[in-house]
Amino acid sequence: MPHAELSELLAQSRRPAVLTGAGMSAESGITTFRDALTGLWQRFNAEELASPEAFRRDPELVWGWYEWRRMGVLRAQPNPGHLALERLGKRFPNLPIITQNVDDLHERAGSTQVLHLHGSLHRPRCASCGTGYSLTVGIPSEPEGGRRLAPPRCDRCGGLVRPGVVWFGEALPEPAWRQAEQAVRDCDLLLVVGTSGIVWPAAGLPMRAKQGGARLVQVNPHASALDPVADLNFRHPASALEWLLGSSGLA
Ligand code: OAD
Repeated sequence: MPHAELSELLAQSRRPAVLTGAGMSAESGITTFRDALTGLWQRFNAEELASPEAFRRDPELVWGWYEWRRMGVLRAQPNPGHLALERLGKRFPNLPIITQNVDDLHERAGSTQVLHLHGSLHRPRCASCGTGYSLTVGIPSEPEGGRRLAPPRCDRCGGLVRPGVVWFGEALPEPAWRQAEQAVRDCDLLLVVGTSGIVWPAAGLPMRAKQGGARLVQVNPHASALDPVADLNFRHPASALEWLLGSSGLA
């Protein structure tokens, strides 16, 4: 039975790693990108919102949309899945959590080794000179999809401040990507939670882990592109990590 197999895999593992996607935060109330009906890219046009060209064309539209998302994250709380991974990190103190998520829910759950492949909603920077910009913590509520909002100006050069996320057509942040590659090279078990597994280069990490001899365990309530690669597939939401890992005595 797969659950017993998971306990065994975890008991044998010396160097696990974790890869998470939008599904990890779904039960915290953060919308995924591609889930039918609810996914952000089902309801909003990625081309208008998630590229450097989009920001150049209409910075107010883009900034307002990302501020709406940031406010959603500020209101959200880590879910039992985030908390279970934090407990797993106590058992494996250098547990790398590679995430495609731009929220900070792993950190707020207490995880420390979090590698953000797609940046963060909380770390905007100047679109011209790259200097980081400190945002005020909260606008209490934003209309669905946000409202047009002028981006702040950089304190250093006066350029427009942009969201600190990776957009389509942009490179991943070099240090995070390098460390993620290293983590999947080193791991003997990769736990993949809540990603459709179709956005590259992150989508290539599970196969790299496999090629290095790691076992692959996936937690996702729906089919994903990673199903054929996974050794164990748990068709469960991320919150099930609480009992999946808990009953293995690991979290
Ligand atoms: P997707 O929206 O593509 O996929 C979300 C996955 O989460 C799907 O496989 C769902 O089945 C699964 N899911 C839904 N609810 C879940 C739950 N409660 N527990 C666990 N899994 C659940 O999101 P990502 O794979 O993260 O990139 O998307 C990758 C990238 O595409 C994002 O980082 C973003 C997006 O465009 C950029 O913005 C650069």
